[in-house]
Amino acid sequence: MHHIISIRDFERDEIDALITKAQKIQSLGSYKRTLSGKLVALLFFEPSTRTKMSFASALSRLGGDAITVDSVEGSSISKGETLADTIRVVSSYVDAIVLRHPKEGAARLASEFASVPVINAGDGAGQHPSQTLLDLYTIKENMPLDNIDVGLLGDLRYGRTAHSLSYALSNYDVRLHTIAPKGLEIPQWLSKELKDRGLDIIEHSSMDEIINELDVLYATRIQRERFPDSASYSRVAHSYRITPETLENVRKNLILLHPLPRAGEIDPGVDSLPYAKYFRQAENGIPIRMAMLEDVML
Ligand code: CP
Repeated sequence: MHHIISIRDFERDEIDALITKAQKIQSLGSYKRTLSGKLVALLFFEPSTRTKMSFASALSRLGGDAITVDSVEGSSISKGETLADTIRVVSSYVDAIVLRHPKEGAARLASEFASVPVINAGDGAGQHPSQTLLDLYTIKENMPLDNIDVGLLGDLRYGRTAHSLSYALSNYDVRLHTIAPKGLEIPQWLSKELKDRGLDIIEHSSMDEIINELDVLYATRIQRERFPDSASYSRVAHSYRITPETLENVRKNLILLHPLPRAGEIDPGVDSLPYAKYFRQAENGIPIRMAMLEDVML
């Protein structure tokens, strides 16, 4: 049985194979109903628009069906049932489980109790492997993942998309420039691990220092829901914003990515500029998640 829990579990050739599979699916335009008769549980114990809906859409395009839990309140977890028991039971109803959960490590725990494949759709500040795969897919759509400068902007402490993506990039020949408000820097243990894996990481205190030398700028939202209290969130809220003026002297080939939802980090005036690739990035969730669903169920 094959689970997808963390991008750390992937070798580079496995990442590349999934991206190639997604490219083939996308280029076909019409899809084979390879998952006809398969049923998938979408267990989302945290809010989601893109991940939940694109998994549902990907599954439906492949002929499969979804059953969904959208909140803790909508499940017997609200009556005190453990995640382990929930997963054991749901495993007997479906052919795979896609899980989003507020606690780091929840998807790994679920995989230990599941009798069907589990896909991690985001576990607290931990990992978000399907997001990372679509991020890499979108970069590859625009440029080779080779000898490029990637800027990672925002909440690098709590942001699971940043944790997942930075680890995945350590498989490639990139220079990673981190830009975070004070207190939201990439965790030291992760930075050390990435350096040990050979990734060239350069920390910056402001976006202006480096933006004109980047090929990819990956902006992220400050993860308000992970802060211990509202005062510590307020100290860093709205501390950066990308506007058309910010991008006046950037490289012509720059692509601006964001996992979305955005919460003020990118001015809507940027949306019509050629650098803005974040809506295309969200759209790329479909072929990537189709490839992932086939990968775990066929
Ligand atoms: N990027 C992402 O995970 O978005 P959702 O929270 O809407 O799924």
